[in-house]
Amino acid sequence: MSNKILSCLKKKEKNLPIWFMRQAGRYLPEYQSLRKKNKNFINFCKNPEDIQKATLQPIKRFDVDAAIIFSDILLILDATGQKISFEEKKGPILNNYNKKIFYQQSDKDFKKKLKKTYESIKKTRKKLNKEKALIGFAGAPWTLLVYMINKQSPKKKLEIEKIKNKEKEKIIKRLEHLIYLHCEEQIKSGADIIQLFDSWAGKIKEKEINKFCIIPNANIIKKIKKKYPHIPVICFPKGINKKINLFIKKAKPHAINIDPNMKLKKINIKANVVFQGGLDPKFLLKGEKQMFKKTKEYLDFFKETPYIFNLGHGILPQTKPKTVKRLVEFVRSYKP
Ligand code: CP3
Repeated sequence: MSNKILSCLKKKEKNLPIWFMRQAGRYLPEYQSLRKKNKNFINFCKNPEDIQKATLQPIKRFDVDAAIIFSDILLILDATGQKISFEEKKGPILNNYNKKIFYQQSDKDFKKKLKKTYESIKKTRKKLNKEKALIGFAGAPWTLLVYMINKQSPKKKLEIEKIKNKEKEKIIKRLEHLIYLHCEEQIKSGADIIQLFDSWAGKIKEKEINKFCIIPNANIIKKIKKKYPHIPVICFPKGINKKINLFIKKAKPHAINIDPNMKLKKINIKANVVFQGGLDPKFLLKGEKQMFKKTKEYLDFFKETPYIFNLGHGILPQTKPKTVKRLVEFVRSYKP
């Protein structure tokens, strides 16, 4: 058997591969026990032996078609000297960014700080069956800019307007370069696919969506395509709403993940892209009847086009592993 998700992405087969964002995480008891040993989350993300274990946990339990390397989008900022801690219930808390390191650190030194991630990818790829893809990832420039400046999740308040557009553009340009370097090293270490998370794209003013979301994603994709034409790129501009078709047309990713707020009728199903995801992770907390009904809406909508089953955001910590297993079984047995 070949690699299902890669054939879906490359030959655009309608073979319905399946994986989940945050498939390794707090809802899994085996993750909790690894996490207990690694009290500091950032240090956990620098422990290749345990990263490899966490990455493979959902493969062992659910036999999903892809593993996503266990890491975090904020590791890039950590590698530019910005200190990060994770506080229970608060999420990430960051110090001020260090201008000098951010702009002037050599590529070599930057990559050295992320070498544990690359080592983990090598280790994991060796253990992972060839039929399964290994997904490397990075945050997109806008989303990393948001964390750099806001220094915490922008859910409650977003203080990005305190810096001028010129400075935002300068930071974004630098981030494009660092993100590309990080993707490149992940590919060289054995990642088969790259996913770019633009989790806060929904916070961009409509008239600035090109400048802050579409063009930066497009620039990174262009560079990956040029040097690694065999590596598919999946984008997740969360909250992009009706600009999705413009995003697909201009950024040209191989695949695009949709979020739960995306109205399916707004999507151009004939666009030259593979669609992924969409189901609100809250449906995994509602009972099977409702979960399957909503799942069917996605499977039916995308039945004529290559589609990767996934959610519209990460699995919630309250989710029961058994529910995930039932969802995988349902998707694999469903005939539209
Ligand atoms: O299984 C996977 O999906 C791979 C690992 C992964 C993590 N973070 C691990 C993680 C991935 C792909 C991410 C991406 C990420 N990280 C994003 C983009 C996707 C999204 O959620 O929008 C963002 C914005 C972050 C930043 C981040 N990391 C936040 C806001 C938080 C706190 C929220 C939370 O769920 O606790 C994290 C922590 C984090 N990253 C955890 C995990 C498993 C939880 C840490 C714990 O064990 O306490």
